[in-house]
Amino acid sequence: MIRYALAILLVAGPAQVLAQDSTPGLELWGKIHEVFSHPRCANCHVGTDRVPMWSGPEYGAAPRPHGMNISGKGADDGANYLVCTTCHSKQNSATPHGPPGATSKGVAEWKLAPVEMQWFGKSSAEICKQFKAKESNGNREIAALAHHVTTEPLVLWAWTVESERKPPYSAKELGKIVEDWGMAGAPCPTK
Ligand code: HEC
Ligand code: HEC
Repeated sequence: MIRYALAILLVAGPAQVLAQDSTPGLELWGKIHEVFSHPRCANCHVGTDRVPMWSGPEYGAAPRPHGMNISGKGADDGANYLVCTTCHSKQNSATPHGPPGATSKGVAEWKLAPVEMQWFGKSSAEICKQFKAKESNGNREIAALAHHVTTEPLVLWAWTVESERKPPYSAKELGKIVEDWGMAGAPCPTK
């Protein structure tokens, strides 16, 4: 009898633990964060000063603001200063340190992410909260977020640079990770 009860416990035990365990979801978030905090993404997802960042190995040891007094203050596409697409055209410049570019339907797209989508300088927990909340993610369900990261030209651009500058995974893999994270209950870390 005791043996029988023990067997039931052993069978029931792990399933119960799994149902309450956010570890698999948090591991998936960790991968999403690896991409979101990568310079290729975060350089455009900046805060209230509205200045794009130059950070990552090819920009030297320390992050610095975009050169040439570029700003997205009052207009994410730079219209109040110098429109981003003056320099950022439909494709990456062929010259080293020339402006990168991206296109959709033949139109250059380059501009800052809206301020409520700030990632640069934010913690993993803060980015997760922002990404999940409809008030700050462009009113998107998780399925729409997964779709966004696999189709949006500015996201796809991040993988069009030389290999040492690319974020980990691929856009397609990231889409699947976002979906799986949603299925795992979309948990966010505490810090
Ligand atoms: C050239 C600037 C630029 C780069 C580079 C960029 N983004 Fe964005 N991002 C934007 C803009 C603009 C929006 C707002 C568009 C919208 O909401 O439809 C945005 C919105 C998003 C959103 C919408 C929801 C949210 O919660 O933020 C996601 C997700 C996203 N970007 C992911 C990425 C990822 C992943 C990368 C890198 C692989 C990246 N972006 C690189 C400009 C950029
Ligand atoms: C006067 C030309 C010019 C304008 C206007 C301009 N940029 Fe740039 N941008 C550049 C150049 C050149 C580089 C590449 C610098 C390098 O590689 O050393 C660059 C790089 C960047 C990067 C870094 C990309 C990476 O490699 O991670 C971001 C982000 C960026 N620009 C955003 C913007 C945004 C957003 C605007 C408009 C608000 C804008 N830029 C306006 C010339 C410009």
